[in-house]
Amino acid sequence: MTQPTPCPEIRASFDALSAEELFTSSRIKWRLFGEGVLPAWVADMDFPVAPEITRTLRELVERNDFGYHAVPLSPQLREALVSRMDNVYGWKVEPLRIVPLVNVVQGLDLGVLLHSEPGEGVIIQTPIYPPFLEAVAGSGRRLVENALVRGDTRFEIDFDRLQRDVTPDTRVFMLCNPHNPTGRVFERDELMRIAEFAEEHDLVVVSDEIHADLRYPGHPHIPFATLGPEVAARTITLVSATKAFNLAGLPCAFAICGSDRTQKPFSELPPHVLGHCGILDDAATYTAWTEGETWLATVLDYLLENRRVVGEFVAKHLPDVVYHPPEATYLAWLDCRALDLGDPTRFFRKQAKVALTNGRDYGSPGEGFTRLNFATSKAILQEILERMAKAVENRTDTNR
Ligand SMILES: Cc1ncc(COP(=O)(O)O)c(C=O)c1O
Repeated sequence: MTQPTPCPEIRASFDALSAEELFTSSRIKWRLFGEGVLPAWVADMDFPVAPEITRTLRELVERNDFGYHAVPLSPQLREALVSRMDNVYGWKVEPLRIVPLVNVVQGLDLGVLLHSEPGEGVIIQTPIYPPFLEAVAGSGRRLVENALVRGDTRFEIDFDRLQRDVTPDTRVFMLCNPHNPTGRVFERDELMRIAEFAEEHDLVVVSDEIHADLRYPGHPHIPFATLGPEVAARTITLVSATKAFNLAGLPCAFAICGSDRTQKPFSELPPHVLGHCGILDDAATYTAWTEGETWLATVLDYLLENRRVVGEFVAKHLPDVVYHPPEATYLAWLDCRALDLGDPTRFFRKQAKVALTNGRDYGSPGEGFTRLNFATSKAILQEILERMAKAVENRTDTNR
């Protein structure tokens, strides 16, 4: 697919974001901590959505078009998903293998519930987006933790540990690729090793690829299911436009199954259990996937600069923080352990008036880390970083 070029007008709308206005929005990101605390926590971008999506939604609102619509999964939306996966990733998705969901977290829960029994093992690579942990703990499965290891330039998979910790009753491997919070985009050889491991232990792989479209140059995303027919057959891939196109309030997601083995348990659920999206949700996702590429290219260009800003700022003003720039996502995973701040997220909220996401919520390997969302305007990002550096500079034994 030819890459569209970033659009200067869209970019200008990102630069023009105003914290005052954002504080009046209904976004939880801006509401939870109240005025005065700059939010850089939940994974929403502050940017306005693609103008094409606004137009589509406006048309539906103006036509008062809210009756029952072609659900679940209109043929057009199914086609849009199939052709986007082909155009962007060279992945030929079998249309009838697509299971419509409302959101990706539902797919995480279902992947575990439908492919393992209580007490059986589920592998998760911590630190990890908290609903992965909840999918295991909440369903009474046994956590098989495969913590990623911090290397010199990026987090790495500990394959030795994986072999040591897997048990005969382990059923599911929950892959998060790109990985939240470390920002890793796993490379072909790493994914191949996971695939071989999954084959050796006959695991179903639930592959959450929601961040795939937010990858940076030099880090191609390889859908796990494209590694080969045998791999596809044991994989459930979870995809959605909501992360890359900033549509979290218009949920719409899909599980792409690679075989009867992975799909049948979904088909056997009572027909209404999965629920379905509303017309605004479907329409927003359809428009994102068919008309949103210029907006996405502009976002990626902007995020690339913000990633550089964070890297340079941290190196200069927070040199004791260890930070590997993410290969995808707009999330900076900051290792604050050397600063000795106690709970760094709490410290920054109280002393810097900046709300970050607590690393501890991502499992015990996240202790001492905090996660910063840099998907905002350059000016707001600068203010966030300066507040953080100033708080560290002025810290005393009593304000930690
Ligand atoms: C890895 C990952 N999966 C899923 C989600 C949430 O997806 P959804 O809103 O569709 O449940 C997020 C949100 O940040 C995420 O980071």
